[in-house]
Amino acid sequence: MANAFPADSTASIPEIAEKSGMHPDDAETIIRHALTYRLFKQQPNGTIAHSAATRAITTVPHLHAWVIHALENMWRDAPFIVPAMEKWPGSQEVNETAFNLAQRKEGPFFKEIGKSEKSVRQFAEAMKFFLDKPAMRPEFAVEGYAWDVHAQGTVVDIGGSHGVIAFKLAERYPAMKIIVQDRPEVVASAPKPEKGQVEFQAHDFFMAQPVKEADVYFFRYIFHSWSDKYCIAILRALIPALKVESRVLIMEHIVPGPGILSPFQERPIRHFDMAMKESFNAKERSESDWKNLLGDADKRFSVVEVRRPAGSQLGIVVAEWAG
Ligand SMILES: C[S@@+](CC[C@H](N)C(=O)[O-])C[C@H]1O[C@@H](n2cnc3c(N)ncnc32)[C@H](O)[C@@H]1O
Repeated sequence: MANAFPADSTASIPEIAEKSGMHPDDAETIIRHALTYRLFKQQPNGTIAHSAATRAITTVPHLHAWVIHALENMWRDAPFIVPAMEKWPGSQEVNETAFNLAQRKEGPFFKEIGKSEKSVRQFAEAMKFFLDKPAMRPEFAVEGYAWDVHAQGTVVDIGGSHGVIAFKLAERYPAMKIIVQDRPEVVASAPKPEKGQVEFQAHDFFMAQPVKEADVYFFRYIFHSWSDKYCIAILRALIPALKVESRVLIMEHIVPGPGILSPFQERPIRHFDMAMKESFNAKERSESDWKNLLGDADKRFSVVEVRRPAGSQLGIVVAEWAG
């Protein structure tokens, strides 16, 4: 409905209803309720204008897609978290989630979304909104770790999508070789770099790592959508490729320990945790969770450092392979 009229104009309720494909009475019910949340603004002549919030939906890039994702997936699935916990207590499986119950789907979230081109596009756009925000800037990945020691080395960005981090690293370190791995359909739509410094490679991160003895295996925003069992499988798939002192960098939320943040500050992190649970049976992790996860994957992984770049939503867990 927010997109039914341009940011700086007004519309009558019947006009909004028509553009939104709704009966005018239904549209009025929704708009009157929305007005109490400062969504839309009633003009003295009875027409409807945008409020700051509805204007943002029409003008901020990708926000509209994010709102649709929140309404059609996260909000719809949330009431099924407890029924899913009752049906599958403590499940780590990707197809035993609130999403599966709420939407009556058999398969994992991404597999089901992947069945419709529209849903794939819609979800990708929603993620762009999320990943474009200042606290998620790719520069944090470049500035937040001492990459200089690998300036002549090889870095594998696993689940690196279209190489947003890889290209930033390449700019700063011209002698660094960077291989971006992702699912075949993602690699197929990735940019085709002219010089060979950044290379794209189709690779399923559950299969044995094909790039042997790289200096760094980098994962940004991968593990939080997998339960421990699957994270361990992803980490173990690296092992045959590792050399002594290969580093594994995990850039993710690092949930602060109890009592460090106020409940108000901690709440958004807990929201993420619940969102990961409802869609994937996954979770957000604290520093000790990350250490335990790496240790459970293999005792030869040791966490050498945990970095928290100022202003970044994500921290960097740096682990090293002892061989
Ligand atoms: C949340 S995105 C993170 C993308 C990128 N690392 C970033 O930080 O912008 C997760 C990525 O993992 C990729 N992915 C999911 N399953 C995968 C698999 N089995 N093997 C390789 N990549 C996978 C997705 O295609 C997606 O690009």
